[in-house]
Amino acid sequence: MVQHSGGASSRWRIGFVGTGGVARRHAHVLAGFADVELVAATDVDPDRAAVFAREYGLRAVDGTAGLLDLGLDAAYVCVPPSAHGTPEVELAAAGIALFVEKPLAADLATAEWIARRLRATPVPARVGHHWRCAEPVRLARELLAGRRIRMVAGSWVDKVPPVAWWADRTRSGGPLVEQAVHVLDLARVLVGEVAQVHAVSAGPVPGGTVDAATAAVLCFADGAVGTMATSCMAGSRHRTGLEIVADGLVVGVGEDRLEVHDADGRRSVRFDPWTARVAADREFVDLLGGAPADPAAGLPDLHEALRTHRLACAMARSAAEAAALPVPVPVP
Ligand SMILES: NC(=O)c1ccc[n+]([C@@H]2O[C@H](COP(=O)([O-])OP(=O)(O)OC[C@H]3O[C@@H](n4cnc5c(N)ncnc54)[C@H](O)[C@@H]3O)[C@@H](O)[C@H]2O)c1
Repeated sequence: MVQHSGGASSRWRIGFVGTGGVARRHAHVLAGFADVELVAATDVDPDRAAVFAREYGLRAVDGTAGLLDLGLDAAYVCVPPSAHGTPEVELAAAGIALFVEKPLAADLATAEWIARRLRATPVPARVGHHWRCAEPVRLARELLAGRRIRMVAGSWVDKVPPVAWWADRTRSGGPLVEQAVHVLDLARVLVGEVAQVHAVSAGPVPGGTVDAATAAVLCFADGAVGTMATSCMAGSRHRTGLEIVADGLVVGVGEDRLEVHDADGRRSVRFDPWTARVAADREFVDLLGGAPADPAAGLPDLHEALRTHRLACAMARSAAEAAALPVPVPVP
C-alpha cells in the first residue's frame, strides 16, 4: 500500500514519464477515475509534454526531478524501450509506485539491471501486459484448466508502427521484444515456461535494422511444442495471438477474441479491447490503496515480466545468431 502524498486530498497523485501514444491512452482512462489526480508529465521533447499537459490539465515539468518536486504517489513510465532504466530507478528510490510500459527495455541487460535495483525498494511496480486482464484470456484459462496442452502457434502480423524509434533495433528491441512480447507473455500464462527457442529471420525491414519477419520453434518445459511467427510488413494489423491445441480442444485467444473448436463445433466471440485496458489501469490504482493483487489474472510485477522479457530477448538473439538457445532461468 502507498501512503497518500496529497495531504487532505484523497485522490492518488499520478505523473507520466513520456507523453506519446500509450501515455495518452493511460491518461484518457485515468482521467475518468474519481480517485485519481493527474499531476504532471515530463518528456525529452518539451513541446510534446506541453501539449499533453494542456490536453489533460496537468503540469509539464523538466525530467524526473520535476516530477519528484510535486509529490506523486505513482508514475506511468511510457518511454520507448531504449529509454527505460534511469526513470524507474530514480522514481522508485523516492518511493513512487510504478506502472512500467512493456517491454522492460530494448535489451536484456538493462531490464535485469532495473529489476536488481528495484528489488531493493518496497514500491509496487506493475508492467503493462494488460492482455492478462482481458476477458478472453480469463475464459481461455478456464477452458484449458486440467487439459494437457500439446501445441501452440503464436503470431504477430502487423505494420511497422508509426514511431521514429521503432525500425532501429537498438531503440525498440525489434518485433519480438516490442510487439510479440504480449503474445509470449500470454503463452507463459496459458501454457507454461519455455525452455528452448530457435528463431530465424527473413532479414531487416527496408531502411531499418529490425526483422521484417521471424519464425521460431519453442520447446516448453512440460513437453508442449510451439511456433511463433512475426511480420511487421503487413499494411495494417492482421492477426495477433495464440492458437492452443489441447486434447479435444483448440482455443484461439488474443486481446480481443476467443475462438473455441471442440467436438461440438466452432464458436467465436469478439471483445472490446478497451475493457482490458481500463481494467489494467483500475487494477494498478486499486493496488495503490492496498487491494490484494491477483497473481493469476492481474498485471505482472516487474520480476514476473522479466521472465517474459528473457524469453523475448532469447528469441531475438536466436534469430540474430541463427542458433537454438536455452531461455535463461532466474537466479534465486
Ligand atoms: N501495452 C500496450 O498495449 C502498449 C501500446 C502502445 C505502446 N506500448 C509501449 O509503450 C512504449 C511507448 O510507446 P508509444 O507508442 O507511446 O511511443 P511514442 O514514441 O509515441 O512516445 C514515447 C514518448 O517518450 C518520450 N521519451 C523518449 N525518451 C524519453 C526519456 N528518457 N524521458 C522522457 N520521455 C522520453 C518521447 O519523446 C515520446 O514522446 C513502448 O515501449 C511501447 O511498446 C504499449
